[in-house]
Amino acid sequence: MDKERKLLIAGNWKMNKTVAEAIDLVDGLVRELANVKEVDIVVCPPFTALHAVSKKVLDTQVRLGAQTMNENGYGAFTGEVNAGMLKEFSVRYVILGHSERRQYYAETNALIAKKALAAHAAALKPIVCVGETLAEREAGKAEAVIGTQVKGSLAGLSAAQMEETVIAYEPVWAIGTGKTATSAQAQEIHLFIRETLVQMFGESVAKKVRILYGGSVKPGNAREIMSQPDVDGALVGGAALEVRSFSDIVKNSI
Ligand code: 13P
Repeated sequence: MDKERKLLIAGNWKMNKTVAEAIDLVDGLVRELANVKEVDIVVCPPFTALHAVSKKVLDTQVRLGAQTMNENGYGAFTGEVNAGMLKEFSVRYVILGHSERRQYYAETNALIAKKALAAHAAALKPIVCVGETLAEREAGKAEAVIGTQVKGSLAGLSAAQMEETVIAYEPVWAIGTGKTATSAQAQEIHLFIRETLVQMFGESVAKKVRILYGGSVKPGNAREIMSQPDVDGALVGGAALEVRSFSDIVKNSI
């Protein structure tokens, strides 16, 4: 596929995989995807598997991401993990503000913005998630909600930092439900997000930012969604847990 921006396909493993299972999965992905140069490939295991997976992806096409991080430096924050700790395992990306974090752990746009700044301070690339609920979409508020999330979650970033930030549009109603946004619905929101970035950071920055789609991406729908002009990749949940389905998504996008 000929795209303006290099595609990025990331697997969000969520709270899945023992260390042994994570090693099996990453070994399979490295084997299957060894020759893929056209797409940036990222896997985001749980914290407990980062060390083992980091050793497996050394000198391969596969890059490592984390699923969240704390915005503070070292100190008394029981249960948390900061950017410096992630860097020890050669983590390059970190998912921030996933809808599950917003919903279950009360993450706000302001908090996500702090995390994004802390990630950049450690040279980690944030994958900042936004997306509306079904009720918000049905009330005609999708763009208003997403506009607020984009402006709030990216507040304070410099233009240079924004260029190194990835956005993931994940409609909450499409996550784990088997319902995907149509490619037209995805394109409409992705374009809206890019226009919002133009207002915030200017045209040349907005053109460089990759905006991923997430929500029930599977081998069968990946190509259609990623063929949209403003869809620059995918953030994959369930289908990232098996070698076959994740590698097929990557291969089908080329
Ligand atoms: P599913 O692909 O399982 O719908 O999950 C999407 C997601 O939340 C990725 O972050």
